[in-house]
Amino acid sequence: MRVAWGEFYVREFYVFSQPYIRVIEMTDFLDFIIDDARWAPSGHNTQPWRFKKIPPNILDIYVQSEENVLNLGDNETAILCVGMMLENIILSANHKGKSVEWTIQDSTDAKKPVIRVKFMDSLDIASSEDNRLYQRIRTRSVDRRSYKYKPLSNEDKKALEKALGSTLKVDWFESLKERYSMARLAMGATHIRLSIKETFSVHQEVVEWQKKDSADKIPAHSLGLDPLTLMISKFFSKSRKRQEFINKVPGGLFLYQWETDICPGIACAGYFMLSLSCPIAVGKAEKISQLLEAGMVVQKFWLTADLLGLALSPNHMLLVFSDYIRKEIEFTKDTHELENAKKLSQRFEAYIRKKFNLQPEKVLLMGRVGSPRERRGLPRSIRLSAENLLITEMR
Ligand SMILES: Cc1cc2nc3c(=O)[nH]c(=O)nc-3n(C[C@H](O)[C@H](O)[C@H](O)COP(=O)(O)O)c2cc1C
Repeated sequence: MRVAWGEFYVREFYVFSQPYIRVIEMTDFLDFIIDDARWAPSGHNTQPWRFKKIPPNILDIYVQSEENVLNLGDNETAILCVGMMLENIILSANHKGKSVEWTIQDSTDAKKPVIRVKFMDSLDIASSEDNRLYQRIRTRSVDRRSYKYKPLSNEDKKALEKALGSTLKVDWFESLKERYSMARLAMGATHIRLSIKETFSVHQEVVEWQKKDSADKIPAHSLGLDPLTLMISKFFSKSRKRQEFINKVPGGLFLYQWETDICPGIACAGYFMLSLSCPIAVGKAEKISQLLEAGMVVQKFWLTADLLGLALSPNHMLLVFSDYIRKEIEFTKDTHELENAKKLSQRFEAYIRKKFNLQPEKVLLMGRVGSPRERRGLPRSIRLSAENLLITEMR
């Protein structure tokens, strides 16, 4: 049987009625893969990946530099996100009857490696579980609002833990006391983030205040703020002077923190913390591989949550500030906020060590999870088109 799908052909042969082999002519195969890949999440929707097609069956991924004060040092957040996007590629290829081999093609610049993905015909059929995850690639979306107070069921937790395989482990912060503690810590990170000068221009670049959806930013309407707080935040985000003014007013940031950290932090099933289950890699290429593999697993975790009907919202800033303090990086000239960051990071690290004997440097992603109150209705970060993600000449 031969089915024409635009320029795209699928041939299906039935062997003993099933399983069947699908042979896909590569004409536009790489475009279809990129079209699925681009729906992976990234911090602030920056999509730190660009593609080079090498027909018929090779795709090079160029990691983009995303170094700013809102991300982990050494471009680690971007590399983790590229790993998440790589998982989309694998699910998409398997769904189309191809197997995937990926290698780090160039790690000369450890912050901006190039990854080569090769697609091959495969007799294996994607598992039904992987096919179900594939179906969630476009429906998965961050939900920063409050969730139901309903705890996670044991089945949900088991399914989420299973998605991590042996690469990562998850620890849960579920009791009211634990959720409150995490929400307070997150509130501290928000205070630093909104106070320092260094984040001001980044916030201006990454938040879309005008339109409801955005191809390469976070729409302000998806931040989970009520219309009044949204209006106030928009007003104070217009200039650094206005921001400095509100920062000086006692409790000036409280409404924002209340709506982004405290309320949703308590109204959820709990916080999750994903950390490496093995030692941190040492060599340059090994570290990149480890981050990519971890990213792939993180994406499986998020897609599984979506499949289970759960909402998820990462909270990266505690990890970012802790990382800077641990590495003794002075990420701001504001000595008062630097001191605050030191205290916050000590409290955070002591808390997770005491609770789960967790090594903070091994934690790669944390956030909230729970049953959404409403499934739909949030504006979302739409994506750059596949065409805009293509590299035509070398960086
Ligand atoms: C590594 C990582 C860190 C993130 N950190 C945060 C965060 O700290 N706060 C937040 O509100 N969203 C965070 N997000 C969510 C992204 O902003 C969101 O996934 C992105 O804008 C794309 O939107 P979508 O998930 O709806 O497709 C993070 C996402 C990733 C992958």
